[in-house]
Amino acid sequence: MTPLAIIGGTGLTQLSELSIIKRHKINTPYGSPSADFIVGELNEIQVVFLARHGNPHKLPPHKINYRANLWGLKQLGVEQIIAVAAVGGISSSMVPSQIAIPDQIIDYTYGRLHSFFEDSEYPVTHIDFTYPYSQNLRSQLILAAAKINLPITPFGTYGCTQGPRLETAAEIIRMEKDGCDLVGMTGMPEASLAKELKIDYAALSVVANWAAGKAEGEITMADIEHNLEAGMANVTHLLKTFISLHKTSGN
Ligand code: HPA
Repeated sequence: MTPLAIIGGTGLTQLSELSIIKRHKINTPYGSPSADFIVGELNEIQVVFLARHGNPHKLPPHKINYRANLWGLKQLGVEQIIAVAAVGGISSSMVPSQIAIPDQIIDYTYGRLHSFFEDSEYPVTHIDFTYPYSQNLRSQLILAAAKINLPITPFGTYGCTQGPRLETAAEIIRMEKDGCDLVGMTGMPEASLAKELKIDYAALSVVANWAAGKAEGEITMADIEHNLEAGMANVTHLLKTFISLHKTSGN
């Protein structure tokens, strides 16, 4: 099977079903990654797991060293990444605790170190980013969800905000007009850095809450945690199914 990594976000600081084989502490030319890279077995297949916010969860989205994380995964030979992250639901189909597999991105972040191609040692490079996610990996995840009858939304435009605060209601109205179905804070520059390193990348977005102004009242951490708990159980089931399908197809 193609060497696979799972990046876990809020609500997925560790993969409890992973039987751990090794931990790699990697220093990169870009600094320290969020945490040790954990190599373990899930459904008898080796995967690398990285806690995006550190373990324990301590790094806010704008402080994550995305370049070090991606560089470290490349050093470990990873060729595919499934990125799990909590999001807010903007479109009516993006119901809390459900999973979406987005197909597009709009980037609203600023000030993040977002490219490997910025030093004079590299020629100026403009990667193609028309389709930010790997269509192949997305299709396989959609197939795995169908296999276990897990209702997911198999598309959607992910809007990446700077955080760490949540958005205003007006910002969400603007994002909706822009075409965003989901809002999160960590999808960029993670996706484009993966593309720069030629690593296939797909996202499992777990809806933690209705985005600002989409439901009555304030968004509370308690609600987010409650919805994520339900969603993450499905993520683990989906990942295990994806791996077992992968194993039999020999991909
Ligand atoms: N906005 C941005 N990021 C998020 C949200 C949200 O509402 N919920 C979970 N991550």
